[in-house]
Amino acid sequence: MSYKTGLIKAAFFAGLLLLIVPPLTHGEMGGGGEWNLLPTLPAEEYGNVLINRTSEKNNVKPVTFSHWIHRRKHTCRVCHFELEFNMKVNTTEISEAANKSGKYCGSPGCHDGKVSFGHNEGNCEKCHNGNRGYRKERFSELSTFPKTKFGNRINWVRALKKGLITPADYLTIKPSDDIAFDKTLLLEAEWAMIPPAIFPHRSHVKWLDCNNCHPDIFNIKKKTTKHFSMEFLLKGEFCGACHLTVAFPMNDCKRCHPDTKKE
Ligand code: HEC
Ligand code: HEC
Ligand code: HEC
Ligand code: HEC
Ligand code: HEC
Repeated sequence: MSYKTGLIKAAFFAGLLLLIVPPLTHGEMGGGGEWNLLPTLPAEEYGNVLINRTSEKNNVKPVTFSHWIHRRKHTCRVCHFELEFNMKVNTTEISEAANKSGKYCGSPGCHDGKVSFGHNEGNCEKCHNGNRGYRKERFSELSTFPKTKFGNRINWVRALKKGLITPADYLTIKPSDDIAFDKTLLLEAEWAMIPPAIFPHRSHVKWLDCNNCHPDIFNIKKKTTKHFSMEFLLKGEFCGACHLTVAFPMNDCKRCHPDTKKE
């Protein structure tokens, strides 16, 4: 099928508009480039979250947590599987008492006062600063990383492959060797105008545990996940659980639909 004919292009754009209208109703607007119509953040703020489930209620500023600082040292699996942080801000019951007793941020090997700064006086503001852009000057440490156009504007898959980062895959619970799975799935949409999305297991399991996706986000049998469409993805379901806030965002159509022709 050719995407060069004006008719199909028009249909594609009509579909695209339907997709991007809902998210435009909230959040800041981006630069408004052709494919860059979803809300956009500066590269150094993408993936930074402000945790404020209990902080302000207890008279401390919200906690800034930066994914680009942390993912260089640890994979997603470490925090979102071993340490049991949820992949939705303000849903994990983190408390200062738990941190101090060696859970969550204070886990051994993390902010335990040995490997990284601990939970004592003088360090409070390093976490409780309420500033999404905190330590953005450190982003220049990443200036030699392979580039993309969206999110952190960094190709994390290639940065990992090239050995520019060597994040630890576990603290104490080693991933099991007998479940290696590196099948790339072609996810054909029911609407045949769009080239199928690809889902490469290989580049995901380098960062994630099978449990991060199966069975809660996806069934373990291809084409059995219900409501698997962009409408739901853009609401944070399925691929959108990661590809709106931390992994490269939904604006990057071509990375998931690689056969999409250039304008
Ligand atoms: C050092 C620990 C750590 C690492 C590594 C980490 N995360 Fe997180 N992540 C967190 C914490 C803490 C939160 C906030 C949880 C909360 O507030 O309940 C979070 C939140 C999230 C959210 C929710 C964002 C939002 O706006 O709601 C997503 C999605 C996410 N992480 C995905 C990832 C992915 C994908 C990776 C790997 C590329 C990753 N995380 C690596 C600790 C980590
Ligand atoms: C390594 C990061 C980090 C450091 C350092 C840190 N905290 Fe926290 N703290 C957190 C996180 C994350 C939460 C959960 C915040 C939320 O959900 O609003 C939290 C929660 C809190 C809360 C909310 C109520 C409670 O008891 O859980 C208070 C109060 C608090 N911290 C005080 C402090 C003080 C005082 C210091 C310095 C002595 C400090 N924190 C150091 C990360 C940190
Ligand atoms: C980032 C999310 C994610 C991770 C991590 C992940 N998977 Fe999957 N997996 C998927 C998706 C998406 C599908 C397709 C679901 C659908 O089409 O309904 C799938 C499908 C499968 C299938 C069915 C394939 C087929 O052809 O029917 C198997 C088997 C599977 N995964 C095994 C694993 C194993 C083993 C791991 C860990 C080594 C793993 N997955 C990690 C997202 C993931
Ligand atoms: C993170 C991966 C990812 C990104 C990025 C992405 N898509 Fe998709 N897209 C999918 C998946 C998965 C499906 C559903 C495939 C299926 O039905 O099995 C899909 C389906 C679609 C469909 C079919 C109709 C529908 O609503 O499901 C269209 C049209 C589409 N995408 C357009 C786009 C456009 C335009 C962009 C860029 C703004 C984009 N996609 C970005 C993964 C992605
Ligand atoms: C649990 C989190 C998570 C979910 C769910 C998820 N991804 Fe990803 N994905 C990642 C992370 C982390 C990367 C590494 C790149 C990055 O962080 O930008 C990645 C990378 C990719 C890549 C780039 C591969 C490469 O070699 O460059 C593609 C394509 C992709 N995802 C498609 C999908 C599609 C399609 C879905 C839904 C079917 C999906 N992802 C669901 C976290 C996730």
